[in-house]
Amino acid sequence: MKNQDIQNLIRTLQVLVVGPSPEFAGELEAALLAATEARVSLRSTADFSEAAGASRARLPDVVCIELGSDAAKLRDFVAGLRVLAPDLPFVGIHASVRETSASAPDVLVEAVRSGFLDVIERPISSADLRRVMPQIIAAARARETAGRVVVFHSTKGGVGKSTLSVNVACGLARLRPGRVLLIDASLQLGVCAVALDLPGKSTVADAARERDRLDERLIRELAEPHDCGLRVLASPRDPIDAADVDDEALARIIAIGRRAFDYVIVDTLPTVDGTMLTILDLADQIYLVNQGTVPDVIGAARLMQTLDELDIAPGRRAVVLNRNLPPFAGALTAAEVGDRLGTEVDYEIPHDKKVLTALNLGEPRVLRASTRFGWGRAMRELVEDVDALHAEAPEEDQGLSAHVEDTL
Ligand SMILES: Nc1ncnc2c1ncn2[C@@H]1O[C@H](COP(=O)(O)OP(=O)(O)OP(=O)(O)O)[C@@H](O)[C@H]1O
Ligand SMILES: [Mg+2]
Repeated sequence: MKNQDIQNLIRTLQVLVVGPSPEFAGELEAALLAATEARVSLRSTADFSEAAGASRARLPDVVCIELGSDAAKLRDFVAGLRVLAPDLPFVGIHASVRETSASAPDVLVEAVRSGFLDVIERPISSADLRRVMPQIIAAARARETAGRVVVFHSTKGGVGKSTLSVNVACGLARLRPGRVLLIDASLQLGVCAVALDLPGKSTVADAARERDRLDERLIRELAEPHDCGLRVLASPRDPIDAADVDDEALARIIAIGRRAFDYVIVDTLPTVDGTMLTILDLADQIYLVNQGTVPDVIGAARLMQTLDELDIAPGRRAVVLNRNLPPFAGALTAAEVGDRLGTEVDYEIPHDKKVLTALNLGEPRVLRASTRFGWGRAMRELVEDVDALHAEAPEEDQGLSAHVEDTL
């Protein structure tokens, strides 16, 4: 591959390094710089648990692991990351067989079983890395062009998540027919199909049952089309149907969905359980919805804290103040909501009583509303910003033009 191709192909390559020995990252860095013309950013972690946290904050393009002796821990770590990114490449690095610290044979076997691209012997040579570089670059390129995952979430019910998910999805689908998938992940009480007047023939549970053979073609076939150009995976039909959907299945559906579509919009329930955390981890953009009442703003502030604890970068979240209640005396202003949340309100969606009528008629308001003023205009801005998530260079290069970020 020509150097120029590499430059055109990808942004800075994000390399996650897992290795307890301090000199390991330095050795890998030197070999990587010699092995590729691509810009490289290394993030060094000492163990699997630190590496799992770092991946949650920002998914790497490749994980390079200094292989130790614990095969079970290696298997669990790889399996955990594969839930978030099924195509993530792993490279194992082990001490030369002559060294006393050489990796235990069962760890090497596990690396092969776990589908590592390669296992390289130390000292790391750039020639060995060069061999795996094309596959790493191809995987990074696939991620770069993959669809964006957009999640609407709140800790309080009834604030407008489903209304926003459905209307943003429809508004976007009108711009990008056939390129938007709406997933109703409010697994037991989903309303998206009803709001779109769709029979809900294909549900998230149907896709979950097909998890092993789910691919781009199948997910496109399963998703129900709406006239505006949207495709929908409705929520399960009942709690028994929902029982087939676990966080791994949902992660797989989202991961395949982002390969098949430019945008995957996810409507959620007001809970923070394992499934929800997986969805949040996978989101490129999380819209935190509140309706501007004191209790729900307090809930939203707690959710912000949770996202901080999960290391979900502020750049991946935006606050939506959705005025789903008619104006009332003492309502919090956007500035007051922002103060309580410790961050600005990014979008304020005005109250519009036709939103409810549209929902009852199964005809999303966004498909009829004027985009010049009021609710329709606010929605247009939101839709345009979601649209820009895909056109944008993913995760701005944040000054990473330097060859290696000094997080070592
Ligand atoms: N901007 C708005 N103006 C007027 N009504 C609105 C607006 N946004 C939402 N609503 C109404 O608010 C109600 C709750 O909205 P919605 O069902 O979307 O909330 P939700 O957060 O998805 O609820 P749940 O947590 O139960 O899933 C609905 O009746 C909807 O029509
Ligand atoms: Mg809802």
